[in-house]
Formats: sequence, structure tokens, C-alpha cells
Amino acid sequence: MKDCLSLEDFSKKEVERLLDLAMRIKRNPKKYRNVLNGKHVGLIFEKPSLRTKTAFYVGVSKLGGVPVYYSPGEVQIGTREKISDVAKTLSYFLDCVVFRTFEHENIKELAANMPVPVINALSDLTHPSQALADVMTIMEIKRKPLNKLKIVYIGDGNNVCHSLINIFSLIGGNFYAVCPSGYCPDKKFLDESLENSKRSGSKITVTHDPYGAVEDADVIYTDVWVSMGQEEEVKKRRSDFKSMQINSQLLARAKKNCSVMHCLPAHRGDEITDDVIDSANSVVFQQAGNRLYSAMALLVMLVGGVK
Ligand code: CP
Ligand code: NVA
Repeated sequence: MKDCLSLEDFSKKEVERLLDLAMRIKRNPKKYRNVLNGKHVGLIFEKPSLRTKTAFYVGVSKLGGVPVYYSPGEVQIGTREKISDVAKTLSYFLDCVVFRTFEHENIKELAANMPVPVINALSDLTHPSQALADVMTIMEIKRKPLNKLKIVYIGDGNNVCHSLINIFSLIGGNFYAVCPSGYCPDKKFLDESLENSKRSGSKITVTHDPYGAVEDADVIYTDVWVSMGQEEEVKKRRSDFKSMQINSQLLARAKKNCSVMHCLPAHRGDEITDDVIDSANSVVFQQAGNRLYSAMALLVMLVGGVK
């Protein structure tokens, strides 16, 4: 495996290896401090980022490598120059590119023109390093096999939801995506993932009813209703998603020790209320902190060549 564009590109074994690696790095980071010695990793971000940029920037540094950061607007991939020209140029300098962009096709094109690994730091379609950190967090907190857990994502069938579908369909679990009609996960993407779930025995369900789905949930997860690039749809989305808010009434339907997750940034008062995100059930900051280890695991495996 050269790149990480989506988790569906990985086998079950590879994803399990990445999760194991992330946990090992967290336990003993010093063991990995020279893995990227002499390597330079480009971080091209065409959208804002707090967690992902920090995770990969700090992650590269902790592994002994040098991060080279490009802020939104700096490279202007596809407008200032062709994606393939950027890829071919950077191949002479860099050992890996971590790329956050709008269209997923941009990442595919970059990867197709670079001999070095390309890691997706979020596209409109997927957010793989996020899903790895999410599952790592669930494993840390629940200490139960994933197929014994009910995980309920409520909100937009977006990039974050797609990567959660990817990962649970690969490694097992009982995953619900609750989305308003018109905002369900991409059909083609879902069908491909469902093929994987036949092999892993995981159960992936798409519904529209948050109150029904959260009954006995072990984990409730949400994301913003308006993703980066969709700002013009704010008004419509706020109205279409209003029954999808994670609030104390909804949380009361789940198991008492149900964990609340959010990839962040949170729009408090929209998809989640203050009392829930600040409650004892919330694990959002542990989840955010684990972004460092999922980023490091990807770098160690794909750039460091550690199997
Ligand atoms: N969750 C996440 O990817 O956060 P950022 O957009 O801040 O990187
Ligand atoms: N779905 C959100 C995730 C942010 C981390 C977005 O794409 O903006």
C-alpha cells in the first residue's frame, strides 16, 4: 500500500495493523523517534485545519522528519498549475505529501503522479486519519470487541461518515448512520463498503430516526451540519438537520455510559448542545488527541516502511 486516499483501499489486516501501531506509538513514542530521519513531508492544506495540521506537523517532527507546510491558497493546485505538474515537481523534494482538498479526484490525481506516498488529510468524500483515531478512541474507552458495540452517527452523510462506514465495514461493528433524507451517504460508496461488511460480519444501517437509533447506543457521534465548502447552504441545512441535534433528551435514550464523540470543530447549539459536549459522557478531546497517533501510524507505515 503506497497511499492512504480512503480506508477502503486497505485490507482489514492493514487497518488493524494501523490501529495497533497507533496504540503502540502512544504507549512508547520514543521507540519511533528516528523512523523519519532525513525525510521531508509536505502538508498541503487547501482548507482550514486545527487538529489535522497539528497532528501531522507534530507527528512528522516527533518521528524525526521535517514538515513542510503549505497554507490554503499557497499552492493553488489545479488553478496556478496543473495537479500533475505540482506532483512531479514535489516528487524531487519530498518523501510524502499530506493533502487536504475539496474534490477527492484531486487527491487521486496527485497520488497517480507521485511515486511517494500521498495521505488524505480530508477531502469532500473521506477523512481516513479521523476514522482511525475515532476507532482507536472507542477501543481505549470501551474495551469490548467492536461487534459488541452499537455506534450511532447522527448528521450529514459526509466525508467523516463515509470513513466511519469504511472502517466499521472492514473491521466489524454495529454502525448506524442517521441522516435526514437527501443527506444520506453516497450510494456507490455505501454499496462498496457493504461488500466488505459481508466479509467482516459488521452491520451497517442507514436510517432517518435518531430517537429510534440511539436506543441502547454505546457511542453517539456527530459532525457539523455544514462542511467546509458548503457555507452557502447554511440556512437550508440548519433547517433540514434540526431534528438531528445531539442534546440531553436524545442522550438519555442511550446507555448510561454512552460515549459522545465529535470530530470537531463543533458548532455548539447546532449539531450538539453545550451540556452534552461538556458532559462526562463526552470524549471529544481524547478523540482529538488521538489524531496525533493515527497520523503517526500512517506516517510510520507508509513513509517509514515499518510493517
Ligand atoms: N477533525 C478535524 O479534521 O479537524 P480540523 O479540521 O481542525 O483538522
Ligand atoms: N465534515 C467536516 C469535517 C471537519 C473536520 C468538513 O468537511 O468540514
